[in-house]
Amino acid sequence: MHAVQAIILAAGKSSRLKTNRSKLLEKICGQEMISYPVQVIKQLDIPLTVVVGHYKDEITSVIRALIPDATFITQQEQHGTGHALMCTQSTWSKDHVLVLNGDMPLITQEVLYTLYEKHLTTNAMLSFVTAYHADPTDKSYGRVIKTKHTIEIIEAKHFIGDINEHCFINAGIYLINRHFLEENISFLTKNNSTQEFYLTDFIKRASDTQQIVSTTVAPFDAILGVNTYQELWKAEYTKKSTLILFWMEHGVRFANPSTVHLDEDTTIGAGSFIGAGVHLLKGTHIGSNCTIQEYSILSNTIVADHAIIKPFCVISDATISCHTEIGPFAHIQSSSINQKSSIGNFVEIKRSRIGAETKAKHLTYLGDTTLGNKINIGAGTITCNYNGFTKHTTTIDDNTHIGSNTTIVAPLAIGKNVITGAGSVITQPIPDHTLAIARTPQINKVGYTPVLQKKYRIQTETS
Ligand code: UD1
Ligand code: CA
Repeated sequence: MHAVQAIILAAGKSSRLKTNRSKLLEKICGQEMISYPVQVIKQLDIPLTVVVGHYKDEITSVIRALIPDATFITQQEQHGTGHALMCTQSTWSKDHVLVLNGDMPLITQEVLYTLYEKHLTTNAMLSFVTAYHADPTDKSYGRVIKTKHTIEIIEAKHFIGDINEHCFINAGIYLINRHFLEENISFLTKNNSTQEFYLTDFIKRASDTQQIVSTTVAPFDAILGVNTYQELWKAEYTKKSTLILFWMEHGVRFANPSTVHLDEDTTIGAGSFIGAGVHLLKGTHIGSNCTIQEYSILSNTIVADHAIIKPFCVISDATISCHTEIGPFAHIQSSSINQKSSIGNFVEIKRSRIGAETKAKHLTYLGDTTLGNKINIGAGTITCNYNGFTKHTTTIDDNTHIGSNTTIVAPLAIGKNVITGAGSVITQPIPDHTLAIARTPQINKVGYTPVLQKKYRIQTETS
């Protein structure tokens, strides 16, 4: 796009959300709503000004992370979209000013290019995007009211008459000649009933002054505006469906796609299977030929090829290598699991590194632990990594066998090819090739049961 600058309106109070927060910070598929139009502008590589106000600092920092040299203008009091545009006058410098609402998370580059091309080819003073939206009950949009020689936008809430005759709505995307803007900005007046300045009044102004006004039609799904939680859900559902259809096209099978959640940056390799209710959240990348079974939730996690995640696992900030098996009901945080390892049910692993071909299959807690290769961790083993004040580490070397119900009191190093006796409380380091047993020796009192029985019977009878 040549000689175009963008302005995104992001200062609004989001009152229809009823939360007092800014809707633009609500996440849709893992990203703040405002980041979607900002990313589209970033791809176009044109200068960006953003009008901020409500939740200004938070919105500014989300946008800065994407476009460090964006300009920010503060709209101290929010008097409407027209007023927001007025506040940016000092930044107008290019021939054409592209103005966008900030609450359009499904917006695409194509919509903006189509608008730009039509604007140039028709030599328009003002161009804007419309969409077909037949629902007469939807009061969220301005309706395009066109006669042979005039065009204007009337907000649905102010419209009197048969709305079915006006099925085209205003998307909230405008490309305006800068000179026209400069000459006409002072003509905007407050709407009588809402006391707000409407940016849309520019269209009537252009039409009344016999300027060329162009429109382009976009799919409604691409320009859906989000004011309420109902609309936010629709937008996220649409985005999620698009992502799932994309990965299906790339060879991923979804057992029950309507129950699956994917974030914008999730990637999945061909031949993988995604079960019902699976959530693959921000920063998650699944390799090829993996199986992610029902109701597992993964965030910021890399899963290599041929891994199997069984149902109901919760995994975050982790790396799962190829040919591993995890779950069901495993909880893994900030850890790496090496290839061909197997982590079973009710196993919790935190801040740990698990070597290759190592097994911890039942009811175990491993925290701040480094395990070597080919280790077997018996059922019920726990590392005691926290003494109430500080965290301590455990290391266990290759080929070691930790007996069931072993308690490992960190800090501790256990050598290679070690065996620990079941039920041991290990408090001392164990050298290589050692059998360690740390439990009270068993006492067998032969023939003592009848003695006890007699004693207790007597007591019951006398009491
Ligand atoms: C607006 C349009 C409507 C269009 C719809 C498309 C007007 C008057 N109406 O209505 O015709 O169909 O978008 O979704 O423009 N904002 C500010 N400062 C303000 C007010 C709003 O920066 O003082 C920002 C908001 O943060 C938001 C954008 O402008 O990102 C649009 O505001 P919103 O209140 O959502 O406008 P709509 O009522 O949806
Ligand atoms: Ca809106």
